[in-house]
Amino acid sequence: MADISHTVHVALGERAYDILIGPNLIDDAGAILAEKFPGRRFGIVTDTEVAKAQLPRLVASLEFSGPTYSTITLPAGESTKSWEHLQTVVEGLLAAKLERNDIVIAFGGGVIGDLAGFAASITRRGMDFVQIPTTLLAQVDSSVGGKTGINSPHGKNLVGAFHQPKLVLADLSALDTLPQRQFAAGYAEVVKYGLIDDPDFFEWLEANHAEIFAGGPARGEAIARCCAHKARVVIEDEKEIGVRALLNLGHTFGHALEKDTGYSDRLLHGEGVSIGMVLAHTFSNRLGLAPGQDSGRIAAHLRKSGLPTTLADIPGTLGSTETLMAAIAQDKKVSRGALTFILTRGIGQAFIEKNVEPAKVSAFLEEMRGA
Ligand code: GLY
Repeated sequence: MADISHTVHVALGERAYDILIGPNLIDDAGAILAEKFPGRRFGIVTDTEVAKAQLPRLVASLEFSGPTYSTITLPAGESTKSWEHLQTVVEGLLAAKLERNDIVIAFGGGVIGDLAGFAASITRRGMDFVQIPTTLLAQVDSSVGGKTGINSPHGKNLVGAFHQPKLVLADLSALDTLPQRQFAAGYAEVVKYGLIDDPDFFEWLEANHAEIFAGGPARGEAIARCCAHKARVVIEDEKEIGVRALLNLGHTFGHALEKDTGYSDRLLHGEGVSIGMVLAHTFSNRLGLAPGQDSGRIAAHLRKSGLPTTLADIPGTLGSTETLMAAIAQDKKVSRGALTFILTRGIGQAFIEKNVEPAKVSAFLEEMRGA
């Protein structure tokens, strides 16, 4: 019997699915998948790091329970979310003779989840897929909600599709071997949920930080609360016509910084979000919307987690303010030239502002570069 500590249901009608959270779900995956998807074959998509650390567990579990599978292993890192590797996955699924009724397993972090999910959405005009996220970031954010895609040289996540998974299996034990830097980067997305509209959750995170990082029961609870929050938002606004955009808090600045640092190890996605969330709060303060002490409190909490919080924390030299502004303008949160930002009136009071003047953002970035 699988040991499931939390279940979150994403009630999307005929596209509804469960997020199962538990201590050893990779070892239970074979039995769960055989029961839920009898007679179907699986195409595992993973990366070299996850293949080393976790794949033997998944393979043993599938072999024990019977489903047949094949595996496609890609290089680890954000640059894998590319046209080139999309082709590798699609051709690999076809070469393995997986049929439309078979199932792609996205086994890894956010990069693998986004790429494999997008490949599933277009291969044979749409295959089902299951997310088995192995990073904190993927467990609390990217594996839930059906955003799939790749990066373009023009910017992050500019090519993709909404394609909901059929099931998400979040194995807490996978986080025990995650490098501390990766865990902290995922934690930025955890904090984000508190900052959007749940100040009690942010306070709870402040109180439970040590236990979450040490791997106590608060870790599973934090993940379940994030998934429940995300499920609520996705049910209300699956295709990001409205409120789902709030989940992009910190991402407009963050994506521009990621692009500027070449999607490299200089700045992980969650690290960009960490800096971006502090910038979003400070910018809101400069616009007279939010109290200044909130950005200080948020930055202190993120710094305690080992996260960068200022532009100066990014190693190496950043591009010019004009380059950053060009990246912000290319971000998909732009509508007819006006900049859309997630701004805030304070912790837990984020809102969507569709009419932000580019000159104000540019002046703010100039100020932050000198800070
Ligand atoms: N990561 C933001 C969203 O899924 O909408």
